[in-house]
Amino acid sequence: MSTLFSSFKLGAVELANRIVVSPMCQYSADDGCASDWHLGHLGMLVNSGAGLVIVEATHVERHGRITHGCLGLYSDHNEAALARVIAHCRRTGTARLGIQLAHAGRKASSQRPWEGGGALKVGGDPWETIAPSPIAFGAGWHVPRVATLEDMARVREAFVNAARRAVRIGFDAIELHYAHGYLAHSFLSPVSNHRTDDYGGSLTNRMRFGREIAQAVRAAVPTSVALGARITGSDWRDDGLTADDAVAYAKALRADGLDYIDVSSGGVTADTRNPTTPGYNVPIAERIKREAGIATRVVGLIVKPAQAESVVAEGKADMVAMARAILDDPRWGWHAARELGADIPRVPQYQRVGPKLWAPAAQRAQA
Ligand SMILES: Cc1cc2nc3c(=O)[nH]c(=O)nc-3n(C[C@H](O)[C@H](O)[C@H](O)COP(=O)(O)O)c2cc1C
Repeated sequence: MSTLFSSFKLGAVELANRIVVSPMCQYSADDGCASDWHLGHLGMLVNSGAGLVIVEATHVERHGRITHGCLGLYSDHNEAALARVIAHCRRTGTARLGIQLAHAGRKASSQRPWEGGGALKVGGDPWETIAPSPIAFGAGWHVPRVATLEDMARVREAFVNAARRAVRIGFDAIELHYAHGYLAHSFLSPVSNHRTDDYGGSLTNRMRFGREIAQAVRAAVPTSVALGARITGSDWRDDGLTADDAVAYAKALRADGLDYIDVSSGGVTADTRNPTTPGYNVPIAERIKREAGIATRVVGLIVKPAQAESVVAEGKADMVAMARAILDDPRWGWHAARELGADIPRVPQYQRVGPKLWAPAAQRAQA
């Protein structure tokens, strides 16, 4: 009996299994509006066999986007465009749907990866970025303006407004992006936050901005929608965040009403590198699940069905998220089910690709 393919209650939301499609930027939006690309891309992933698909980082204000091609949820146009895509996914797929809400902070105003991936240059329509401190992400990156209290209040409200739009669209889950060097992570990490006010210095102060957003969003989102955050398990630097910090943050966010934590890591500066060992965030997730007592998901080089099964079966995390492996094989869940002796819901049009196809030839002939 596979644990990976057992159901899981995420807050009030019932998931068919423990496989989650990790959010993946597509850089294919127009002023934040989802396009036909998203119809195809998300339409494919909702039939991957995963219990939950999280829509890519979707930015809460225009200047909070990473690139000119990033999704946003800061206008009525954005909301209508995404509502069309999500309605399509609901009609045609089996997965539940979540959305990641984000603000890129000092990593905003960037080129799409295939245009270089660095800071936008003059002529590329760059914009001013904000961060806790005036420290660039790396050499050649924009030096951000120091976020004022007014900026922080505006961003917090932008998260709330975007969350309200996500609820109207009908998402089952909302995920706050507190990792990968973007605005909230840059407030939490001592590497990027050198403030001397109530938002810098001690861990309690560095957690304040993210916690205020979490509290405000929770107050605006009904408990029928699962609310979580993707946090940093480690900055992978001696002067950065550690697993101890991640456990403390997870406990605080649980107290603020979040239903789950997703454990990612890295990305605080341009020159930090993540480990390349399979499941490198799993030991951190295991601690968070045990010590913070909150539903926990883990991401990072989880590729093989047996590996994913062991993470959840051994109680190291409640769910696994996958990005590259599921882009590589968009029916990863179907194939994993076959390998682990489980089955999954399929849309009627695809039901003939059931277990019988892989049964011994004699049985297949009779089918
Ligand atoms: C094309 C691509 C786009 C990504 N975009 C996002 C994103 O929007 N939000 C996010 O939190 N992580 C993003 N990531 C990171 C993944 O969600 C994931 O955490 C990372 O790739 C490690 O998981 P993997 O080893 O299964 O690929 C992206 C990764 C890829 C490959």
